[in-house]
Amino acid sequence: MFHALTLSAVDRLTDDAVALRFDVPDALADTFAYEPGQYLTLRADVGGEDMRRSYSIASLPGEALCVGVKAVEGGAFSPFAQSLKPGETLQVMPPEGRFVTKDEEKLVLIAAGSGITPIISIASDALVRGAEVTLIYGNRTTGSIMFRDTLDALKDRYLERFTLIHVLSREPQDVALLNGRVSGEKVTTLARAGAVDLDGADGIFLCGPGEMIDDVSAALANVDINSDKVHFERFTQAGETPRAPKSAEAEIAAQSGVAVTVVLDGARRQFQVEAQDDTVLDAAARQGLELPFSCKGGMCCTCRCKVAEGSAEMAVNYSLEPWEMEAGFTLACQARPTSETLVLDFDAA
Ligand code: FES
Repeated sequence: MFHALTLSAVDRLTDDAVALRFDVPDALADTFAYEPGQYLTLRADVGGEDMRRSYSIASLPGEALCVGVKAVEGGAFSPFAQSLKPGETLQVMPPEGRFVTKDEEKLVLIAAGSGITPIISIASDALVRGAEVTLIYGNRTTGSIMFRDTLDALKDRYLERFTLIHVLSREPQDVALLNGRVSGEKVTTLARAGAVDLDGADGIFLCGPGEMIDDVSAALANVDINSDKVHFERFTQAGETPRAPKSAEAEIAAQSGVAVTVVLDGARRQFQVEAQDDTVLDAAARQGLELPFSCKGGMCCTCRCKVAEGSAEMAVNYSLEPWEMEAGFTLACQARPTSETLVLDFDAA
């Protein structure tokens, strides 16, 4: 699942963000082929702890595979990632994620902070293929703008088709409308002012903190933007968002012990979910079975599996789409059995 990749470069983007660029050997070129908007999961031993974190791919077409890493206050992995040097090796999972475009001709992209990482890859790919792109990008100050040079270069190169709108919260700009945070009100006001065409866009992609996504999505729904064309990726750390408590049904099931069978890479394995386990993923880890995971926060979908028998509820879900829930998919990092036995199929498409 993980492959050792060597860092070809570590470029400083701002005071608190770096770009990690990887050397992908020819033998792994197909394995690491990606679609703009996807992410990589990095794995490393940090202070004796086996850690994984997902970072969006920020590469431009034809560039070395690269992710942007911004320091997270109180975080453990991001300071480690920022201290890495070219020539060092990291364990990297092949690209995953469904925050990808479908050849839209007119895109509106909305990002805040490090939410720019998948967006810059999506924007540059779309511009190369001839699409029209408007990007609203929120930051505190000019100095905290990640990939600023790259964005300026894209603007110079695609002057006719790329509109770049910087919104700054702690640095006054000449146009009052561009001061403050990226919010639903800001986006709809920009649309009313003619700076962005929400109705004409055939794809609207949002990436940033959960509250920005929620606020902008609600505002888009309020102005009757079809939700089918709105796509989002949350940049929220696991543990930052409230989790639903276990339901009475899940508590009762766990008290009596739930026999769980997982189907993974064609093999069946069994373990028990008990009262001490918050989720199926925790129970598997406690019993020495490693299931696929990355964010552990219900955001990345790496742990997606199908409930083949029995039933389960989720503590949070920020990544499964309604059709997947209807089809019986769940997230192992959030799943709590509500039946006496449970069969989870990780191989289900
Ligand atoms: S590990 Fe990311 S959603 Fe479960």
